[in-house]
Order: sequence, then C-alpha cells, then structure tokens
Amino acid sequence: MIDIEKFQHSDCIPDRQEIIELLSLKSPVDIERLRYSAEQLLLRLRGKEVYFRGLIEFSNVCSCDCYYCGIRGSNTDVFRYTLSKDQIVQSAAWCAQQGYGSIVLQSGERSDVAFADFVEQCIREIKDKTISRQIPEGLGITLSCGEQTAQVYQRWFDAGAHRYLLRIESSTPELFAALHPPVQKLQPRIEALRTLKKIGYMVGTGVMIGLPGQTIENLADDILFYRAIDADMIGMGPYIVHNATPLAHFKDEIAAQSEMIFKLSQKMIAVTRLTLKNVNIAASTALQAMKEDGRETGLTFGANVIMPQVTPVEVRKNYLLYEGKPCLDENAEQCRTCLALRVAAVGRTIAYNCWGDRG
Ligand code: 5AD
Repeated sequence: MIDIEKFQHSDCIPDRQEIIELLSLKSPVDIERLRYSAEQLLLRLRGKEVYFRGLIEFSNVCSCDCYYCGIRGSNTDVFRYTLSKDQIVQSAAWCAQQGYGSIVLQSGERSDVAFADFVEQCIREIKDKTISRQIPEGLGITLSCGEQTAQVYQRWFDAGAHRYLLRIESSTPELFAALHPPVQKLQPRIEALRTLKKIGYMVGTGVMIGLPGQTIENLADDILFYRAIDADMIGMGPYIVHNATPLAHFKDEIAAQSEMIFKLSQKMIAVTRLTLKNVNIAASTALQAMKEDGRETGLTFGANVIMPQVTPVEVRKNYLLYEGKPCLDENAEQCRTCLALRVAAVGRTIAYNCWGDRG
C-alpha cells in the first residue's frame, strides 16, 4: 500500500510509478487521504488564499481545427465575434474595481499581424488604465491566445503581459495526433512553451482528462511533463463532448464514464499538487460543467486559482468549447458573488488586489 502522506513533504516527489498508483486509487478512504494530503500541502505552502483571474473570452475566431473543440475553425454553426478594444478594456477595468488583481485574455488562435497589433494595444491600454493605489503595477495580465512566433510573444510581454496559458492537451505524441489535424503538431507547441519561459513569462499548461483512448500512464506522463518544463501554473479539466465536433461519436462512451472522469480530474489536481508542490493550479470551469460544486471541490483537492467569468453576457454563448458550459446567463457581478460564496463554503478566502504569482 502506497504511503500517500509522505508526499506532503516538499522534498518528497512521487516518481512515475507512484504517480500512476496515486491516480489509480479507487476506494473512498484512499481518495480522501490523497485529497487531504494535497490540501494540507497547499495550505502549508500557500495558505487558504484563492486567487481570482477575471476571464475575458475576447474572440472566438480561430484558425485551428482541434477535433474536441466547439469553436474549431470549421464549425460553421458558430457566430464569430471579436470584442472591441473598448469592451475589453472596460471588462478589465471592472475586474480592477472588484479587486480581482489579475485577468486572463483568452481567444481562439489567429496569427495575422492585425491580431498581434490589436492584442498589444489592449494590453497597453489595460495596463495604463488599471494602475491604482491598490494595484500599483496595474492588473496582472495573462494571455491565452495560442501558438505565436517568439517575436509576437516578446511584443506582448514588452507591452505588459506577464503570464501565458498554453495547454499541451496531451503530452503523449500518439494521443495528441489523434486529437488534432496533421498540421497542428505537438513539438512546436512544446517549443512555444519553452520560448515563453525564456522570454520571462510565468507559463501555464495543462491537459484534458478523460479523452478517448487516454490512459492513466498518459496522465502520469503529463504530470511529469509539467515538471520537466517547470510550469508555473496548471489548468486541467475533464474532457466534455461538444456535439458539432469530430469526437462527438464518442459521446455515449464518455457519458458512461462521466463519474470516473470527474473523480480522475480531482485526483489529477491532487497528484499534480503533490508532485509540483508550489505552483498555481486552477479549478477549471469544466469541472463545474460536470457537477454543480465541481470547482469548489477542485479547491479542496489542492487547486488555488479560479477564473470568474467576465466575458460580456451577450457573446458568452458563442464561446462554447463544450456542451453544458455553466454561467452563461449570469453577469460578471453575479459570477463574483456566486464564486465568493463557493470559495467560503470550502473554508477558503479570496486574495483581492494582488497578482498572486507562483509562490
Ligand atoms: N472539453 C473540455 N475542455 C476543452 N477545451 C477545448 N475543448 C474542450 C472540451 N470539449 C479546453 C482545451 C483548451 C482550453 C481553452 O479549453 O484544453 O486548451
């Protein structure tokens, strides 16, 4: 029987075999020991504080064609939108007023010059408008705009963004290839993460859990991959079928495993915490799509970041990466109140007016 508790120590890191064993735990008692160990480690290293990152999904225009994603370029049923600079800056300013401290600007992937210019201008203006006594360096800006050239990453960094999220989706080459068209390759994505690190970004990555054909070994390798690239932030969540995608034919198979996938997602958070120790881990929105209290449960398994929805309600329904995305109707104010209650319900507090970087 594996000694779970020993991984609470900062210098005790599970190896591949141990990660596989931890992810394979089945009995409620063992899963509770895993959860408790991850939570204890987090509380000791980082305290009770949860960081909010206001999420602005500013455009769903996308040139990628990922087989799992609802806003893939070839889904012609989607109404494509891009918020104006003023709308984006206003949403960011609202976050600053609420004391969120940090935002995420997320979009589909575009590699044209106009897009790079637009994002750069948004970053500069947000920085300009959100410097205050509470946050002297302005809002912390995280970007999640896909693979770009080193030059573009550098420009956005120079403009004031300091974190970048680029999920690897799966670090197993065969599985990655089964999820993407041949032009979208794993190696350039890994290179992009390295480039971002070199430039000086805090780098976030992650995978989807419960993908068709994915094994526990694949997930263990994903955690080792996070460690190998020295990720600062991790965002992971369950894979949820979107009906207008090539992977939709796995719908029944995925539905039959939904309870297992939810549990596995929670275990992934805990084991990632026990392996990576001090990083920021998000409780993803997709967890809440599966279960009403999914996000706050994620916090109890070792997550310490939540991304409240700030995308204007009128475009939110066009940013459906998967079916059943929660919080489609609530405005940003309602999301704020709802999440504050959810965080308090699991005995945690929200850290306002700070960037909340990796400790
Ligand atoms: N289910 C869950 N997560 C998804 N994403 C995209 N499509 C889905 C889906 N069907 C995730 C991907 C992407 C992030 C922005 O959203 O991991 O990187």
